[in-house]
Amino acid sequence: MHTEACTYVIYGATGNLSRIKLMPALYHLDVENLLPKGSKIVALGRRDWDQKKWQSEVRDMLEAKARNGLDESVFKRFCERMYYHKGDIKQADSYDALAKIIGNTKKFPQNKAFYLAVSPSDFGSTIELLSNANLLSEDAGWSRVIIEKPFGYDLPSAQSLQRRIGKYLREDQIYRIDHYLGKGTVQNLLVFRFANTMLEPLWNRNYIDHIQITHSEEFGIGTRAQYYDTSGATRDMLQSHLLQLMTLVTMEPPASMDAESLRDEKVKVLKSIRPIPKEAVNAHAFRAQYSSGNINGDKVNGYLQEENVPKDSVTETYAALKLYIDNWRWKDVPIYLRTGKRMAKSQSTISICFKQPPLQFFRDTQVKCDKPNWLLMGIQPEECIRMEMTVKEPGLEMNTRLTSLDASYRNDDEHHTDAYEDLLLDVIEGDRSLFLRADEVEYAWKIVDPILQKWSEERDYIATYPAGSWGPEGSRRLFDKEKQYWRHTLTPKGEIECK
Ligand code: BG6
Repeated sequence: MHTEACTYVIYGATGNLSRIKLMPALYHLDVENLLPKGSKIVALGRRDWDQKKWQSEVRDMLEAKARNGLDESVFKRFCERMYYHKGDIKQADSYDALAKIIGNTKKFPQNKAFYLAVSPSDFGSTIELLSNANLLSEDAGWSRVIIEKPFGYDLPSAQSLQRRIGKYLREDQIYRIDHYLGKGTVQNLLVFRFANTMLEPLWNRNYIDHIQITHSEEFGIGTRAQYYDTSGATRDMLQSHLLQLMTLVTMEPPASMDAESLRDEKVKVLKSIRPIPKEAVNAHAFRAQYSSGNINGDKVNGYLQEENVPKDSVTETYAALKLYIDNWRWKDVPIYLRTGKRMAKSQSTISICFKQPPLQFFRDTQVKCDKPNWLLMGIQPEECIRMEMTVKEPGLEMNTRLTSLDASYRNDDEHHTDAYEDLLLDVIEGDRSLFLRADEVEYAWKIVDPILQKWSEERDYIATYPAGSWGPEGSRRLFDKEKQYWRHTLTPKGEIECK
C-alpha cells in the first residue's frame, strides 16, 4: 500500500500509554522501515523539557521495550524525526503555537495524525481546539484523529461526544481505537473463519452448544484507582474488547474486507443482541470484587485496600455476562463473556463448545465419550487454535482419551508484533477496518447500559472472590445447562485437573 509521509502528533506523550505502547510501536515501525520517509513525530506534554531531554526520555522508554535491544542507528534516525512541544491541552494558544511549528512545510509533512492519549474528558475540547487552530483542515494534506477508549461512559455520553466531535471531523477522519483488533491472533480469527471452509457448516446453532470468551488478569488495578473505580470491569473490558471479540466470532462473512463491509457485519451482530431488560439483569450478568488472596505465592490486597479506592466502593473487578444473538445462525446459543482482575492466570481465550453427538453409540460399553468437542482459540499469552476431540487410547481395551489438533499462530523464529504497531500504521495508510465506527460503539453501549444502570442503583452489596482464584462461584448461575462450566484452560490435561 502506498503511504505518504505524515506528522504524527501525540497528545499525552509523557504519559503511560505513550511510554509503554505508542513510542515503542513507532520505533518498531521505524526498525521495519515502515514509517514513510520524512515522517515526523511531535510529542506534546506539559513538562518544560527541551529536545535533548525528550530524546533521553524516549531512549529510556525504548531501552525498556525494544525487541532485540535498542538499535543505535535506528534510534539516531528516530531522534531526527522527533520534536517535543511544551503545551497545555486546555490552552488555545498552545494549539496556535503548534499550528505555527508544524505549518513549516519544509520541516513537517502536511498529512497529520493526532493521537489523543489523554483523559477521555478532554477528547471533545481537544478536538474543538485543534479545529479552532485550523489543525484539522485538509487543505494541504489529510488530517486524522485517533481516540483511545473509552468512547463515552454510557450511551447518552457516547452520543453526546459523537455530536460534539462530529461538528469538526468527518467520520472517515476519526479512528476510534480498540487495541484488541490490532492483535495478530484476533485478526487470525477472521482469517481462520473466512479463508477456510471446513468449519463453516458447523458454525451455527445446529452444532454449537455455547461460546465462552474470557479475559482474565493476575494484575490488580495498580495505581489506576481513579480511573478504574469509576469504570469497573464492564466498561473497561467487556463493553469494548470482549464485545469486539464476540462480533468477530459470530458475524456473517462480509461482502469484502474493506472497512465498511466489515464494520457493517459487526454492527449487525450488535444490533441482534437480545436486549436485557432491567428486571432480567440478575439472570444475565454477575459482578464481583476481589478480596485479598495469593498470586503466585505472594499475598495481595483486596480491591478495597488498594490505594485510592473508596472503602465503600462496589465497583466490579469481575463481570460475567450471558448474551443471545437473535438471528438465524445463533438463536438460543448462549454466549458467555467474563473478565476479571486478580484472577488465577492472565490470559485471553475463546472457547467454543460443540454439542454432543445425537446418539451415544458407546453408552452400554466401558467407552466414555461424554466430553464435548471444543474449539479453543488462545489470543494471549498462548497464541493458538486447538480442536479437542475424543479418540481411542492405544491398547487392547476400548478406552478413550482427549486429544487435540493444534495450530500454533507463530513459529519460534517469528517475532511478536504489538497491536499498536499495526494500528498506528493503519492510520497512516488510511485503513479504518480495525477501528470502531460511531454506530458500533453506540450499539455496544446499548447492550451493557441496562446492566450498568441496575448495578449503579444496587450499592449495598457486591459478591467477592479471593485474589488468585478463577472468580466467584456465584457466576455459575448464568449457565443455561447443568453441564456447562467455565472453561479455564486450553489443554485437555489442564481442563481435567481444573474441574
Ligand atoms: C485496557 C484496559 O483497555 O486493556 C486494562 O483498560 C486492561 O484494564 C487492558 O488491563 C488489557 O489489554 P491487554 O492487551 O494487556 O490484554
